[in-house]
Amino acid sequence: MKIFKDKQTLQKEISKTKGISFVPTMGGLHKGHISLIKQSKKFKLKTMVTIFVNPKQFNKKSDFRSYPRNIKKDIKQLKKLKINYLYIPTIKDIYSFKTNKKVFLDKLSKKLCGKFRKGHFEGVLNVVNRFIEIIKPKYIFLGKKDYQQLYLIKKHIEKRKIKSKIVECKTIREVNGVACSSRNSNLNKNQMKIASNIYYYLCTLKKKIKKDYTLFNINKIKKDLLVLGASKIDYLENYNIKNFKKIKKANKKFNMFFAYYIKNIRLIDNI
Ligand code: PAF
Repeated sequence: MKIFKDKQTLQKEISKTKGISFVPTMGGLHKGHISLIKQSKKFKLKTMVTIFVNPKQFNKKSDFRSYPRNIKKDIKQLKKLKINYLYIPTIKDIYSFKTNKKVFLDKLSKKLCGKFRKGHFEGVLNVVNRFIEIIKPKYIFLGKKDYQQLYLIKKHIEKRKIKSKIVECKTIREVNGVACSSRNSNLNKNQMKIASNIYYYLCTLKKKIKKDYTLFNINKIKKDLLVLGASKIDYLENYNIKNFKKIKKANKKFNMFFAYYIKNIRLIDNI
């Protein structure tokens, strides 16, 4: 595994390759990332992982500061996985050049997480657009846990006629049902149990509302979630994930999107 800290050296190296399979991360690697990397390796190109905690996608400084970082452990894991390239850029390396393409921000960026984390998706698309220009990957591997992010990146790529293809990868869960996330490492045992109970509560709810959508009584559900141990609920909404239309009755396939806090730890998922 070759490690790069600046884009010039990296670009010189990859100019000789047939193509790159790209797994962007902010570090704090977990089973979800490992699954993305394993998928990427199946494509038989060179696998590149990036670790960059992108300050522009955090709407609160405190959240940026407390975001889990464990670079030594991450490098060890990536070596074991035998990826080809690891790129750990500095802020300057990413933000000191002018991009060829402008970010395309679909209107979905204002909903769900976009409503509660102002500027978040602008920050995500900005950094992903920059990584695409530096790396020019053939494939980009993204997890469905962050489905809104995945959809918005796809829209940007489509609109700006970028050649990279998105590979959508399934959400990996802990045995207790909680979706793997770097932020889980900030949860203690009791908080993990709360997250698990909330996951199972919402799975059961989804089954029920598929049969009778009048049971989707948002005020009652929010109260139940608070009783289960959530500290605050940002949103709980049902969308058709093909066109991202909010559903009014459960006659089509839909995903339930939710974001909530346990103390000051924000968790998101969709089921
Ligand atoms: O999903 C993430 O970890 C980040 O949003 C990403 C895609 C690496 C951009 O910083």
